[in-house]
Amino acid sequence: MESHSNTSVIPSWLLCFLLSFFLLCSHIKAEVHYHDFVVQATPVKRLCKTHNIITVNGQYPGPTLEVKNGDTLVINVVNRARYNVTLHWHGIRQMRTGWADGPEMVTQCPIRPGGSYTYRFTIEGQEGTLWWHAHSSWLRATVYGALIIHPKENNSYPFTNPTREIPILLGEWWDANPIDVVREATRTGAAPNISDAFTINGQPGDFYNCSGKDTTVIPVGAGDTNLLRVINAALNTELFFAIAGHQMTVVGADASYTKPFTTSVIMLGPGQTTDVLVTMDQPPSRYYMAARAYASAQGVPFDNTTTTAILDYDCGCSTKPGLAIQPAFPALPAYNDTSTATAFSTGLRSLDKVRIPSPVDEDLFFTVGLGLFNCPPGKTCGGPNGTRFGASVNNVSFVLPTSFSILQAHHHGVPGVFTTDFPANPPVQFDYTAANVSRALWQPVPATKVYKLKYGSVVQLVLQGTSIFAAENHPIHIHGYDFYILAEGFGNFDAAKDTAKFNLVDPPMRNTVGVPVNGWAVIRFVADNPGVWLMHCHLDVHITWGLAMAFLVEDGVGELQSLEPPPADLPLC
Ligand code: C2O
Repeated sequence: MESHSNTSVIPSWLLCFLLSFFLLCSHIKAEVHYHDFVVQATPVKRLCKTHNIITVNGQYPGPTLEVKNGDTLVINVVNRARYNVTLHWHGIRQMRTGWADGPEMVTQCPIRPGGSYTYRFTIEGQEGTLWWHAHSSWLRATVYGALIIHPKENNSYPFTNPTREIPILLGEWWDANPIDVVREATRTGAAPNISDAFTINGQPGDFYNCSGKDTTVIPVGAGDTNLLRVINAALNTELFFAIAGHQMTVVGADASYTKPFTTSVIMLGPGQTTDVLVTMDQPPSRYYMAARAYASAQGVPFDNTTTTAILDYDCGCSTKPGLAIQPAFPALPAYNDTSTATAFSTGLRSLDKVRIPSPVDEDLFFTVGLGLFNCPPGKTCGGPNGTRFGASVNNVSFVLPTSFSILQAHHHGVPGVFTTDFPANPPVQFDYTAANVSRALWQPVPATKVYKLKYGSVVQLVLQGTSIFAAENHPIHIHGYDFYILAEGFGNFDAAKDTAKFNLVDPPMRNTVGVPVNGWAVIRFVADNPGVWLMHCHLDVHITWGLAMAFLVEDGVGELQSLEPPPADLPLC
């Protein structure tokens, strides 16, 4: 090939012009961020005891990823731990790149110990706070970090520019190996042990043993307005969060902007994020931020401890030995304060008026809730009355395949991995939220079923909680999608009277919706991202029991409406 003879026919001034134009453009163009994530065991001491926890790069919480809308992330994950692992980029749309989504056996086989896999994806039209976490067994108890998406160059926030941006990662800690905790529960069928602490940026705080000297302290300047990016990375617990003496102005949730509204307390289910502006308008001092459980289920054990961190105005009050001021403590709602949780979730509105997708092509009604399996003959089980705990969506208790991921089986046409007969409606209609649902309806059916969606179809989904075993608020997350939350309520959803309550003007857009305890939520989205997308309760104890299903979104017309081919290094089972 005479490749350099080409240049000789272009005058050098033109070449120069073209080159500088290219450089200029590439400047405006999005960036590609490369990262190495080494998954490894790392000794970490909390609550007086050292555990060899699984981390990324030895960090707990893991590294914060900061990108701009439009950028590409290339993350090479090397597994040096003794467990299988996958990573999930919670809330990232993954347009056509389902292979990088991460849920084990749904979009990929796990990365084996000693193996590696490179996740490659582009942020398309998203801004705000998301996070990443392991999506294999209960590894996400310690394998998680923030994923912050800034506006594109020359774009700004739809609110006053904050002085500082502070990620607040709420976590959950077991004084045990969390993998052992879930394995034991899976063996016996009993509920897994509850956690021993909650954490803020990896630290339990002043109200736990052996923890006070490591409490997270955040220095702030008097008068400043800071943006707190609060992430609930806890495994099994919805959390209230408040700051002593300070109101919070909510400006975003799940990387979608919201109409600003001011509140003294926020509630986040696992998976959810909330961005709040906080003005340091109080007398210079030290103020506690605190989080503790919103426990909506009655009579179910939960971790009732409180995690704290300290906002420290630059008052010098923490540095002079002996003069440290005891920080003020915020008022937190009672553990079972459903009205406060509801006031918060129903207070969220999209920033702008929304063009609601319609008309609806797929009108779906899914029950979400717990169940109990009879103990297999000849065994003893540790669940209530000798049963095993289960959970389901429309009475199907989700089972992960073992030989191929669902996405691989779909893409390569491998038969026998899943079926496409996930029901659009509950197989039996009953009074879902009654005090005494007939025992005959308590046992779900284990299966690997997906619900097929045509590319571009408008989906409306009623998520109906049940009172089977225990009614509870379920944070339901859909991979690869954001959705509008049109309405929520208590009791059984009744289309005849509840349709009138839909917010068709400015409903909030989220990736995780808290389905109210003994209630329902209605969401709507356009199936514009081909692939296989897991929907599940983000309480990991409930996924373990089968509270999940998957949507299979078919390819549309042409390359831009089709799933990309799988990367060459996609792990095999
Ligand atoms: Cu945060 Cu299945 O994910």
